[in-house]
Amino acid sequence: MKIFVIIGGISKESINRKLFEFVKSLAPSDFEFDTFDISQLPFFSQDLENNVPQNITDFRQKVINSDAVMFITPEYNRTIPGVLKNAIDWGSRPMSKSIWKNKPACVLGASLGSIGAFAAQMHLKETISSLEMRVMYRPEVCFNFSAYVDKNGQLIDSAKKFLIDFLNSFKDWVLKNK
Ligand SMILES: Cc1cc2nc3c(=O)[nH]c(=O)nc-3n(C[C@H](O)[C@H](O)[C@H](O)COP(=O)(O)O)c2cc1C
Repeated sequence: MKIFVIIGGISKESINRKLFEFVKSLAPSDFEFDTFDISQLPFFSQDLENNVPQNITDFRQKVINSDAVMFITPEYNRTIPGVLKNAIDWGSRPMSKSIWKNKPACVLGASLGSIGAFAAQMHLKETISSLEMRVMYRPEVCFNFSAYVDKNGQLIDSAKKFLIDFLNSFKDWVLKNK
């Protein structure tokens, strides 16, 4: 099962990137992950649409080739970071060739506090639902990085359990919605 992962955190120490490392270590054995550095995509402009840069084509192709998309988003000012919205906008154009339509999707997010990027995740789910992605709404992963990762950088057991439950639910979701 090919899962294309889009991570909205682009800093070296991104906690959402770390969340992806935990996801990889706990995922069902038949999950095959691929990802892409979305910080390299240019800002979307309709002026570029007739002469699309190569990395946009590469990004689009990776999504097309996947069975499902996993978004892992930080929360910036109660919504998703601009860099993630930019990638989504690129994939949605031209409208008749949107790469998102009918693709199974899930959303996770991490922040340093108890909110766990909840507001960003809700906004994201709304946006990708409007693009006709088949979004798994539950279970949710609102990942409180300060509480779920110990001082040695290890996941605590309860977090391990809900991540495994989430990933198994997503596998069922993809099989039902592919
Ligand atoms: C511009 C900016 C806005 C932020 N807004 C929020 C917010 O609305 N809610 C929240 O929980 N954390 C907020 N934070 C803190 C982030 O959750 C924290 O920086 C987190 O580490 C970002 O994820 P990342 O490390 O994967 O990039 C904000 C951080 C930045 C830089």
